[in-house]
Amino acid sequence: MRCLNFLPLILLIILSSKVLSQDIFDIESNCDPQDQVCNKIEQEFVNAGKIISNNLILNAKILVELIYEPLDDDTFGQTTPVLRIHDSPDTVQRLYPTALLKQLNITFEPDFVDIQVSINSNANNSYWFPGDPDIQSTQIDVSELALHELIHGIGFTSTWDFPEDQKFINFLTPRLNGLEDNGDPEDPIIFDGFFETVFDGFLVYIGSPTRNFITNITNSINSFTAKGTEFDNMDALNSKLLETQQQNVELMLTYATTKSSLGFLPTGSQDAIILDTSNPEFDFASSISHVSQDDYENTTEFLMTPHQKEGVTLQAQIQQTGNTPGGGIGPNLRSILGTLGYTINPNPPNNTNSNFQ
Ligand SMILES: *[C@@H]1O[C@H](CO)[C@@H](O)[C@H](O)[C@H]1NC(C)=O
Ligand SMILES: *[C@@H]1O[C@H](CO)[C@@H](O)[C@H](O)[C@H]1NC(C)=O
Ligand SMILES: *[C@@H]1O[C@H](CO)[C@@H](O)[C@H](O)[C@H]1NC(C)=O
Ligand SMILES: *[C@@H]1O[C@H](CO)[C@@H](O)[C@H](O)[C@H]1NC(C)=O
Ligand SMILES: *[C@@H]1O[C@H](CO)[C@@H](O)[C@H](O)[C@H]1NC(C)=O
Ligand SMILES: [Zn+2]
Repeated sequence: MRCLNFLPLILLIILSSKVLSQDIFDIESNCDPQDQVCNKIEQEFVNAGKIISNNLILNAKILVELIYEPLDDDTFGQTTPVLRIHDSPDTVQRLYPTALLKQLNITFEPDFVDIQVSINSNANNSYWFPGDPDIQSTQIDVSELALHELIHGIGFTSTWDFPEDQKFINFLTPRLNGLEDNGDPEDPIIFDGFFETVFDGFLVYIGSPTRNFITNITNSINSFTAKGTEFDNMDALNSKLLETQQQNVELMLTYATTKSSLGFLPTGSQDAIILDTSNPEFDFASSISHVSQDDYENTTEFLMTPHQKEGVTLQAQIQQTGNTPGGGIGPNLRSILGTLGYTINPNPPNNTNSNFQ
C-alpha cells in the first residue's frame, strides 16, 4: 500500500526538470491522520528539507519515505540512503546516494524513494516540537533529529562494517559487491569488489605519524583476488581475504574503534574534520558516520555528532554556538556536502527553522 503511493511521485520527477527549492524534499509518511505526534514529525521533516535546500543548490526532487514504527530503545531514528554504483572523479567506482546522482543529472536505476527514514514510535514521550512548552531534560528536539537524519540520507554515511557472515567479527570492509545483502552465506558467491560510499572516499587516517587516505587501504583490500572470482561460499571468500589482507582489514577495525583516528578531508582543505571513532565496540549505526562528539558537540558542527543532546532545542544550540547562518548546518558540514558533489550556497540565510515563525 505504501509503495502504490509513490507511483505518482516518480512520474513527477521524470516530468519536471526544475522545481522550486522549497519543494525539493518530498516526504511520504505512514502517519495515521489521527496520530498527532506522527504528523508533527512529518512536518519537521518538511522543514528540515527546507533548511537543506537553503544550504545547497538543488534541482531535482528527493523522495523520502518516513516510517513511524517501534525501534530499539536507544534509537530515535535510523536512515538508509538508496545507493548506486558510480565512477568517482578519481575513477574509482563508489556508492552514491541517489539523492546526489539526481542533482548531478546522472541516470540510474531508480528505486521507489531516495531515502528511507524510520522514527521510533516507542519514544514518542521524548519528542519536543517547536511551539511546545519549554523542552524537558528528557526530551529531544525533533526538528534537529529530522535534519540530522536527512543529512545521513543525502550522503553522510559510510559502508565500512563487519562482514555479513557473522563468524568474522575481528575486521571491517567496505560493502561487499555494493550490496547490503548478498544472500545465503552458504551459497556460492562471485566477488565484484568492496565498495566505499562517496563519503568514504574522503576518509583519512589522522593519527601519527602520517596522514593516509583510507581509500588506499580499500584499494589493497580489493586486490586480494580478481573481480569475477567465484567462491564456494562467503566463508571461503573471507578466509582468502584474511590470508592476504589481514593487516589492512584488521587495521580498519582498530582505526574505527580508537578515538581521533579517522577524519574527513574536504576538497581543497588541509584540515580534516574529526569523525567519531570513540566507541571501543564498533557500531555501524554510529561509528565513522558521525563527527566527533567530544570535539564538536558545543560547536557550529553539533548537528552530526552521534548523540543528540536532550533538554536543548536546535534554536538554542544555534544561538549558543554563535548564531552561524545555515539553520543548524555548520560551515564544515556544508564543505563536506560540497566535497561529496553537491553545489553549496555559500551564503545560506540565518535561522530558517520551523513552522512557528
Ligand atoms: C542538471 O540539470 C539542471 C536542470 O536542467 C541544471 O539546472 C543543472 O545545472 C544541472 N546540473 C549539473 C551538475 O549538470
Ligand atoms: C505514544 O504512543 C503510545 C503507543 O502508541 C500511545 O498510547 C500514546 O498515547 C502516545 N503518546 C503521545 C504523547 O502521543
Ligand atoms: C594514497 O592515495 C593518494 C590519493 O589517491 C595518493 O596520492 C597516494 O600516493 C597514495 N598513497 C599510497 C601510500 O599509496
Ligand atoms: C559541552 O558543554 C556542556 C555544557 O556546558 C558541558 O557539560 C560539556 O562537558 C561540554 N562538552 C565538551 C566535550 O566539552
Ligand atoms: C545573519 O545574521 C548576522 C548577524 O546576526 C548578519 O551579520 C548577517 O548579515 C545575516 N546573514 C544573512 C544572510 O541574513
Ligand atoms: Zn546519526
